[in-house]
Amino acid sequence: SDLGVVLVGFSGGQCKEGVDAAPTALVQAGLLDQLRDDLGYKLHGDASVRNYNEMKPASDEPHRGMKNPRAVSAVTETLASQVYEQARQGRMVLTLGGDHSIAIGTLAGTAKAVRERYNGREMAVIWVDAHADINTPETSDSGNVHGMPVAFATGLATSQERDIFGWLTDEQKISTRKLVYIGLRDVDRGEKKILRDHGIRAFSMHDIDRHGIGRVVEMALAHIGADTPIHLSFDVDALDPMWAPSTGTPVRGGLTLREGDYIAECVHETGQLVAMDLVEVNPNLEVAGASETVRAGVSLVRCALGDTLL
Ligand code: ARG
Ligand code: MN
Ligand code: MN
Ligand code: MN
Repeated sequence: SDLGVVLVGFSGGQCKEGVDAAPTALVQAGLLDQLRDDLGYKLHGDASVRNYNEMKPASDEPHRGMKNPRAVSAVTETLASQVYEQARQGRMVLTLGGDHSIAIGTLAGTAKAVRERYNGREMAVIWVDAHADINTPETSDSGNVHGMPVAFATGLATSQERDIFGWLTDEQKISTRKLVYIGLRDVDRGEKKILRDHGIRAFSMHDIDRHGIGRVVEMALAHIGADTPIHLSFDVDALDPMWAPSTGTPVRGGLTLREGDYIAECVHETGQLVAMDLVEVNPNLEVAGASETVRAGVSLVRCALGDTLL
């Protein structure tokens, strides 16, 4: 089957260099070859990694506390049309980041394509992460946009400035009712209030400890419902630093690699997956564990795209 691949060398949604090197590292580890040769995908899209860090507006002063707001906005606007272009042709879309701010673009692209292809239907989002990434510019302590993508994608954060996410249209947005989190363990105070106020479905590590990963994935998929297209946004920091140490904001007490793979396998099994992001692999951090982190990323993508153990 057909797979649109989007390789995003971008780090401007946070402050640590190196996360832009992840797509190259993942490709060099053989990910795309494996998808083609082992899993039988026909790959589409640019074969080379785009250096999105070069998309620098002349001046980019902080806005409402956001750092690099115009750069992140320009990159994600471009990405939105890149992803849309693949998705509207009925291809599954795999995006390799880059930091998690890029999801503003990928979600916008798939949300719009899904509405068009499934006459008006809203897609669901499974966000696997240690963090909720649902800060608004006003609730964020860091000003890093990689902590805000879900707020913009859901319309909980809005902007009047065209060049600072004001380009987002309603058809590119997702519903908080169709959003479900797995793996949370570092949620900011303001984010907890947002999750509560909007009744957003979230499974934390506590829930996984209580019910086990099998039951949690079952409940997450039940919330989404059968035959709803799914966009899986996977932050590698959902995994415990034991398996994925090379990431910008590691948090202990996370998923095992098998639990991460299991989530990906189950999402594949639904047959509803339309897009996946893999983000926040930073080969420049904890260099000793970089190849392990890259291997974990390769494994997560393979599982989501249909690799099986037997
Ligand atoms: N909540 C923190 C913030 O707003 C951390 C976000 C981490 N996000 C990520 N995609 N790793 O800055
Ligand atoms: Mn995270
Ligand atoms: Mn925190
Ligand atoms: Mn994240």
